[in-house]
Amino acid sequence: MHDIVQEYYGRTLQHSGDLKTSACCDISQVPEWLKPLLARIHPEVLSRYYGCGLVCPPLLEGCRILDLGCGSGRDVYALAQLVGPKGQVIGVDMTEEQLAVAERHKAFHRDAFGYDNVRFLHGYIERLDELGLDPGSFDVIVSNCVVNLSPDKDAVLKGVYRLLKDGGEFYFSDVYADRRVPAVVRNDSVLYGECLGGALYWNDFLSLSQCYGFADPRLVADRPLAITDPELAARTGSIRFYSATYRLFKLDGLESACEDYGQAVIYRGGIPGHPHGFALDKHHDIETGKVFPVCGNTWRMLHDTRFKEHFSFIGDFSRHYGLFAGCGGGIPFDQESNPTSFCC
Ligand SMILES: C[S@@+](CC[C@H](N)C(=O)[O-])C[C@H]1O[C@@H](n2cnc3c(N)ncnc32)[C@H](O)[C@@H]1O
Repeated sequence: MHDIVQEYYGRTLQHSGDLKTSACCDISQVPEWLKPLLARIHPEVLSRYYGCGLVCPPLLEGCRILDLGCGSGRDVYALAQLVGPKGQVIGVDMTEEQLAVAERHKAFHRDAFGYDNVRFLHGYIERLDELGLDPGSFDVIVSNCVVNLSPDKDAVLKGVYRLLKDGGEFYFSDVYADRRVPAVVRNDSVLYGECLGGALYWNDFLSLSQCYGFADPRLVADRPLAITDPELAARTGSIRFYSATYRLFKLDGLESACEDYGQAVIYRGGIPGHPHGFALDKHHDIETGKVFPVCGNTWRMLHDTRFKEHFSFIGDFSRHYGLFAGCGGGIPFDQESNPTSFCC
């Protein structure tokens, strides 16, 4: 599978418009705050963007970030501006042609930003331990439309967990299916290259994450994918595919379900770009200044992470009130496109 993917992203595709699905979005759907950052990125880097979501979580200044399958480096160069001169962004990819584009424009971006805080590494995301990166050394690991392409997703999640700091997060966009993808679709090289054949059934992804230490994966955003090429659409039949962004926190003490300990948080503001509220995920939109009841897991995701200083915390874990009401069940993705949801 590595060879097929390297051929597809190294030689078959030349720019984003060559993709045969709606995985990539046009610039009109990009959130306003991202546009000035993208405007400073070299056009050749932008033209070879093949992501399917937005992998820029809030509050990144000074963070150390790893981008798995960075491609030509669009997200690396966007994140480099968000982490600033005291942060660092490292991109890893296995395809020489993609990395060559990223490397070619390093000096351009150093001059545009006024600092040089990016590195690119050639390597495999299943073998992150071979890259000389210290365990527990990353605040955030991101990835944009890559994990589905990996033939060994267990190894990827295991490697990510090892490299994250305690309280760090894997924040990534990928493609998921509404069922297990049959072999005939999985073994079709174009469908695989287009990020469909290797897509995980969403519920298998949740189980896999839990197996590797990410007890409570949180869905941030999702949208159905349209397969714009009629021939490919015919080959996928009635399987539905979604682009979804999840955040997986590496935190001791997370439970497999949302348990109610009578706790609450108050967002005090101060996270750049989020004066009126903070959305931890699709189901937790926390208005500034308002007492917001939370389960134990959400409490930890805010208290034991880089978000802590922006919140006040009410309660502790001394008394349990049962399962937190209204959590879980069924396919988590919206079935129709949501015109207000931001794209990449
Ligand atoms: C769909 S493209 C996305 C690229 C980039 N994230 C972006 O948003 O433009 C997939 C990228 O992942 C890389 N890739 C796929 N499988 C990989 C693996 N197992 N190890 C390292 N890189 C991989 C490919 O070389 C390609 O550049």
